[in-house]
Amino acid sequence: MRVLFFFATLSLVSAENGLDGWLRYAPLPYNDQKLPAHIVVLNTTEASPVYVAGAELQNGLKGIYGTHAEVSHEQCENSSSAAIVGTVEQYQIACGSLNGVPELDEDGFWLSTWGNKVQILGQNERGALYGAFEYLSMLAQGNFSEVSYASNPSAAIRWVNQWDNMDGSIERGYGGSSIFFKNGAVVDDLSRVTQYARLLASARINAAVVNNVNANATLLDQENMKGLGRIADALRPYGVQIGISLNFASPETLGGLDTFDPLDSSVIKWWSNITDQIYQRVPDMAGYLVKANSEGQPGPLTYNRTLAQGANLFAKALHPYGGIVMFRAFVYNQLNESNWKADRAKAAMEFKYLDGEFEENVVLQIKYGPIDFQVREPTSPLFANLFNTSTAIELEVTQEYLGQQSHLVYLPPLWKTVLDFDLRVDHKPSLVRDIITGRRFNRKLGGSAAVVNVGSNTTWLGGHLSMSNLYAYGRLAWDPADDSQSILQDWIRLTFGLDRTVLDTITQMSMESWPAYENYTGNLGIQTLTDILYTHYGPNPASQDNNGWGQWTRADHTTIGMDRTVSNGTGFSGQYPTEIAAMYENIDTTPDNLLLWFHHVNYTHRLHSGKTVIQHFYDAHYSGVETAQTFLVQWDSLKGKIDDERHKAVRRQLDYQTGHSIIWRDAINDFYYNLSGIPDALNRVGHHPWRIEAESMLLDGYKQYTVNPFETAAKSIAIVTISNDTVGTATTRLNFPSETYDLVVNYYDLYGGQSRWQIYLNGKQVGEWLGNSENTFSHTPSIYLDGHSATRIKFRGVKINKGDTLKIVGTPDGVEPAPLDYVAFLPQGVID
Ligand code: GCU
Repeated sequence: MRVLFFFATLSLVSAENGLDGWLRYAPLPYNDQKLPAHIVVLNTTEASPVYVAGAELQNGLKGIYGTHAEVSHEQCENSSSAAIVGTVEQYQIACGSLNGVPELDEDGFWLSTWGNKVQILGQNERGALYGAFEYLSMLAQGNFSEVSYASNPSAAIRWVNQWDNMDGSIERGYGGSSIFFKNGAVVDDLSRVTQYARLLASARINAAVVNNVNANATLLDQENMKGLGRIADALRPYGVQIGISLNFASPETLGGLDTFDPLDSSVIKWWSNITDQIYQRVPDMAGYLVKANSEGQPGPLTYNRTLAQGANLFAKALHPYGGIVMFRAFVYNQLNESNWKADRAKAAMEFKYLDGEFEENVVLQIKYGPIDFQVREPTSPLFANLFNTSTAIELEVTQEYLGQQSHLVYLPPLWKTVLDFDLRVDHKPSLVRDIITGRRFNRKLGGSAAVVNVGSNTTWLGGHLSMSNLYAYGRLAWDPADDSQSILQDWIRLTFGLDRTVLDTITQMSMESWPAYENYTGNLGIQTLTDILYTHYGPNPASQDNNGWGQWTRADHTTIGMDRTVSNGTGFSGQYPTEIAAMYENIDTTPDNLLLWFHHVNYTHRLHSGKTVIQHFYDAHYSGVETAQTFLVQWDSLKGKIDDERHKAVRRQLDYQTGHSIIWRDAINDFYYNLSGIPDALNRVGHHPWRIEAESMLLDGYKQYTVNPFETAAKSIAIVTISNDTVGTATTRLNFPSETYDLVVNYYDLYGGQSRWQIYLNGKQVGEWLGNSENTFSHTPSIYLDGHSATRIKFRGVKINKGDTLKIVGTPDGVEPAPLDYVAFLPQGVID
């Protein structure tokens, strides 16, 4: 066995900032296999994906196994020490006939390592690059099995959407500022864009829409069009095309016309002219993404034109160039909750009535659920109602309602609830994944789009572990029948190396993360009970109701849930094909995890599980929190097996999550306890024997403050300093038994200041921290004391004696008045 000791431990000690994502090519300690000594690249053009594939192979071999493989171009070589990469056609020209390779679909590839001869052949250049990344993924995972297979995409549309604004901010982005735009223009240095393209290509994503769906027409001005050309040039070597989001009113706002009516000839001309100009700069532009008549965006309805007429306007302009229009089905109006039958979930079905009216190059981009990326939603029924229209599913990698990268949530198991769902159209198998790929209804176009929102942070998304979601998105777009866990494990090995404990631990944490998050946020189909009117991050269940946005829960003192039945509710369940409609119509056949999505019931209603709804709420929140606590413990067990830089960064995030999951738990449980008056059978809710309320301490320079929403402070009261330049102290005598505890402080970390807190026991400092999480965590900060800013910090192993004096000193900063909610002394094993 040839054992290469070089750098054997380098991958463990060298710091990593995440920039290479899963493409680290980190050294593996040994190799007893023959590796290609020579790479034959069948294209000499540097900006071609095949050329890039050759360079990647060379770098990968060097990085992973320390070998140097010579690269040569065009000359065919078929020796067992060579890897050859190119398109099928290039191969045939250079090497003659090719046997045993089946016909490949567009973007597909053939990979053969048989007999130590490596053949990587794409149907096109992009496919060849995908094949090279596949081979490298095997090498990086120490996998030397002899393989010979073709891999083809399930669908042609495998896009990402960036919600980047021209000013450089990113809507629902948690990983820093835009890598594309700044101050209204395309940035000069596009090196991060190239690095992004590399990651996308390795996940087989073939297009990126670079600007926000809430689009700014200035993207189309002359300077920015040139910039788009530069972005496209940066992405092209990786086989990634660009797409752009359009603002429907651009002919008026940018073009100076007095209308944006899609049937007006001047408008039609304006758009076709713009389209011509874009294709001059970007001859391979993938197409347009359009959000119209939704959430304040302009659209065709203003002129009494249909949404299909609006979409077709762009389709016709794109047609000569082979571009497509991704038209979003996320269209709804504000509604009045006092109308029992009103239901935002029903809105997208308007598109059913337009089926068949769209041009062939229009694809309806449909969010997985009928509302908006919630922690669990039933499959959007629209997928089952379009037979003559191409569709794509819209997923969200950026964790908008799902912890904003400050919580670990591995999303594919959630996505799979929809992709694998059988809608039983005409009583026949109708899996969503077969509908979006075009198979079920025989459509030529189809696929997936995911809102990704990477930013300038070296972790791209704002946290190392979140990258599994981007990687897995690409893999599922390629093959939606693939398995969430095996995809995850490839990602873990590529990202953190081959250690078995690392693999098992991160697998377990990740696979438990979505169920845990669902448990401590919103379960039984009630949606993520976050603040829908503000940051979409922390708890605020009341914000769901009594507004026009329609994410309602209809919770009152005795009942909760949306009645979406046909017999007595909004009629939404009737939008599904008969078998599915019947299942959801009937409370007995509705699964517990969607009960409150479809039915309005008493808190005392018994679930299939035998528990009442309210007790399930309480229990689920406790159990979700318990699981979340294990993440940190599991991660800690990996210290030394992962480089310190990433270990520390993830540790900080998981430590924060352990605290914030408790904030979620208590807020939701207190809210529904307060509303229903039904106590927790296990007497946990509202009982926290190890806590001391800040407002019950002796205060000097601090005053009481009533927090809104009430449930985001213990007993709804916190304390803040009496002014922005007064140092406050809160003092109390401890009445707990003499013992060693974990000391927890619940405080609020607001945007706009970095307060300092110091904590003393009998005059001796035991802890100190800064309220700077707006700079150190990924989630959207808040300017209020609420469920977003509520944060817990823990000091482990603090020994106290009964009667000791505890003092907290809070020094305000900026607009942050050193707010405090409570302290807790937790005996070993107590989570509270
Ligand atoms: C959500 C999200 C918005 C976004 C919208 C969309 O409502 O919060 O920021 O613009 O979805 O998908 O268009």
